[in-house]
Amino acid sequence: MNTLNTECVGQLLKRLHRDAEVTDGPLIQEMLTRLEASDGATEQMAEVIAEERADYRRVYRGYAEHFLSVSPDYGRFLYAVARASKATRIVEFGTSMGISTLYLAAAIRDNGGGQLIGSELEPSKAARARSHLEAAGLSDLVDIREGDALQTLQAVGGEVDLALIDGAWSLYLPVLKLLEPHLRPGAVILAENAFAADYLGYVRDPANGYIAQALPINDGRGNEFAVRVL
Ligand SMILES: C[S@@+](CC[C@H](N)C(=O)[O-])C[C@H]1O[C@@H](n2cnc3c(N)ncnc32)[C@H](O)[C@@H]1O
Repeated sequence: MNTLNTECVGQLLKRLHRDAEVTDGPLIQEMLTRLEASDGATEQMAEVIAEERADYRRVYRGYAEHFLSVSPDYGRFLYAVARASKATRIVEFGTSMGISTLYLAAAIRDNGGGQLIGSELEPSKAARARSHLEAAGLSDLVDIREGDALQTLQAVGGEVDLALIDGAWSLYLPVLKLLEPHLRPGAVILAENAFAADYLGYVRDPANGYIAQALPINDGRGNEFAVRVL
């Protein structure tokens, strides 16, 4: 079974990726240019992250109309990892309009059911994500929590098989630490745009109980793959 290939989910994802391209095209181009100009230089990324850390609510309020979503390739990768790891309990930091959520919820459906806990600061985005999940017939598997993930993800109700970290860049490590006590041995942690030095330093230090490396997917966009190894 592959829910991604059903007419309903497949068409919806196609439409959402098209909408995202139209809405976000210029913004993504600007971000990529900034990334290329920094040539991955850690000091420059650190500056961007420090600016964001100072007021991430204001920064993301400015992106309230933007999808900032995973690419179709990365979405399929999310689905594949969730299937391979037989994930039935997934947590997502940064749901936006729910594109990544659709891929992950489809995997939960095909793994036999379970729950995805999402988190989104912007109420209008959370509402749009819920309506997309409803349209896909996947809303019974998803609880999107509105507000700051630092609060809304404090209780996740049990072990976590997979986490997608894709919210404010400056909060990757605090959110990981919030989830850490709930990660089952072998849990997968996927972080999109993982540029924060504190996050990368932490997951790449074996003393902290992870094995981690950058993925050669969407090259240059900082996709970090980590597995909880205890
Ligand atoms: C890159 S987008 C997520 C894209 C989504 N994962 C997808 O692929 O479709 C990041 C989202 O995280 C949300 N966000 C940022 N900081 C947050 C926080 N502290 N708590 C909850 N959501 C947050 C933003 O509003 C934004 O919609």
